[in-house]
Amino acid sequence: MEFFEAVAARRSIRKYKSDPIPEGVMRRALDAAILAPNSSNLQTWNFYWVRSEDAKAELVRACLSQSAARTAAELVVVTADPALWRRSNPEMVKFTQSIGAPKLVQMYYSKLIPLTYRWGFLNSMVPYKWLISALTGLIRPMTRGPHSRRDLQEVAIKSSALACENFVLAMAAQGFATCMMEGFDERRVAKLLGLPASARVVMVISAGVEGEKGTWGPRFRLPADRVVHEI
Ligand SMILES: Cc1cc2nc3c(=O)[nH]c(=O)nc-3n(C[C@H](O)[C@H](O)[C@H](O)COP(=O)(O)O)c2cc1C
Repeated sequence: MEFFEAVAARRSIRKYKSDPIPEGVMRRALDAAILAPNSSNLQTWNFYWVRSEDAKAELVRACLSQSAARTAAELVVVTADPALWRRSNPEMVKFTQSIGAPKLVQMYYSKLIPLTYRWGFLNSMVPYKWLISALTGLIRPMTRGPHSRRDLQEVAIKSSALACENFVLAMAAQGFATCMMEGFDERRVAKLLGLPASARVVMVISAGVEGEKGTWGPRFRLPADRVVHEI
């Protein structure tokens, strides 16, 4: 499907048919998800394709048994965890060296990322980080964060949300329906997946073949002239 067709065809589907999704379709969409742009290319995300019947049943319950989850053929949980910089940063250091990236880029990964992504025990690094950015900000434009674990989770969540969009568009392009969900009990989902305290559950995405009356109605959006501002 052409890009703009896929964007237009994607809707949030709350009722699916019982038809399965071929495994290759799911893998292609997951591959598209991990191609999403992401902060500093640190890929602080994980994708849990929940396939076992028991885990699926528990996840549906954690999604408040909403029909978008209950009737789905497949469920994917997308998480964000800033602590995963430790997984990717050594690879980025090696990678930027191996391709002879500019020295500034190499320094960014070897020096700046370890400083930025540490928040310390009980956010103990926050005052120092805050002071540096506040003082620098007095004399020149300066990033005003991230400082705390929460700030870094926010950074990670943005990237994971972009991966979610890639996933649903890739599913739409292959003729399958999806629904992103934030209506879930995050504690229960985190427990089911065994997530560490630093991780957040960004979205549960259901997928399947659109059922009859799969949407609540036609699509509604405010017109572009009310949300697009040219200044
Ligand atoms: C962050 C986010 C959370 C959402 N959570 C739910 C949800 O829990 N249950 C649901 O049925 N739809 C959920 N949706 C779908 C939205 O309701 C839907 O995208 C919106 O109504 C626009 O409709 P459309 O996706 O068909 O264009 C969510 C969408 C997003 C982006």
